[in-house]
Amino acid sequence: MDIKKYLQKKKETVDLALEKYFPNMPDSTGEGVLPTSLHKAIRYSLFAGGKRIRPILSMASFEAVGGEGDGILPFACALEMIHTYSLIHDDLPALDNDDYRRGQPTCHKVFGEAIGILAGDALLTEAFKLMTNQSIQGLFSPSHDRGWVLDVIHEIAQAAGMSGMVGGQVIDIESEGKEVGLPTLQYIHTHKTGAMIRVSVWAGAKLGGADEKTLKAFIRYGERIGLAFQIADDILNVEGKASRLGKKTGSDLSRGKATYPSLFGMEESKRRAKELVELAVTAIDSFGPEAEPLREIGWFILSREY
Ligand code: IPE
Ligand code: IPE
Ligand code: MG
Ligand code: MG
Repeated sequence: MDIKKYLQKKKETVDLALEKYFPNMPDSTGEGVLPTSLHKAIRYSLFAGGKRIRPILSMASFEAVGGEGDGILPFACALEMIHTYSLIHDDLPALDNDDYRRGQPTCHKVFGEAIGILAGDALLTEAFKLMTNQSIQGLFSPSHDRGWVLDVIHEIAQAAGMSGMVGGQVIDIESEGKEVGLPTLQYIHTHKTGAMIRVSVWAGAKLGGADEKTLKAFIRYGERIGLAFQIADDILNVEGKASRLGKKTGSDLSRGKATYPSLFGMEESKRRAKELVELAVTAIDSFGPEAEPLREIGWFILSREY
């Protein structure tokens, strides 16, 4: 399969759905956009051109287990909204203090810190509003009871919150300038990045109607690519091209971040990332061509330049 084409097509689907949730509203004069800084800031960050890997994973996973229809889309969009919020906050001066993201000045650089914080707050909240919208229920077959969908929302909250992404961000910040060992480094990576990737894969499979055995295999796949994704991010921060990445390189070193290259060096980091993707692919090797996009996304994560 042509993974580039696949990613592009899926990204277009996600972008179109996001556009529906955050339309470019006409202002009171009927010209231009609604002049609220919040709305502008949200659209600025959301449509800056992210890869949409988390929503795409949820869709690939949904389809791999035989999920049909558009039921996955609101969840896919919610995952991207939570991710975009995490990026806006990650770039704030109080956290990583970054000036570029997705190829353009960061949200707070353009709209100010207050609106950056609030745009993140709004995206997170709107994600849960979207997933709890009454109309969602009608998108699934009658075999999906309400409790099932609630489970998914609960797991996404778990992945995004204290014991997930936010928890990882806290240890990431608190570890700056310190020498940390592998357990701490692994905690940071599996939480700040791994948790949302893992839950994206799991949510897709769950909403697609996967059985317990399948869910277990998909979780193993998700955990492994989740960690590999952040190791790749660390590697790209050292040897990636800023113009291709759309964000600054070299910043992990200057901020004294706990990363795989800082602990293990470049060669060993690459070896570990590769090993993780191989293990991820192995976890789903009992599935047929329906899981091919997931396997290809694994390889993409490893070889990505952006
Ligand atoms: C960047 O995520 C931050 C991490 C969690 C490593 P992505 O590499 O998915 O960023 P976008 O969404 O494509 O901009
Ligand atoms: C980002 O981690 C993780 C989240 C936003 C939750 P990093 O700080 O390492 O990612 P980049 O390099 O800024 O994208
Ligand atoms: Mg960070
Ligand atoms: Mg950062």
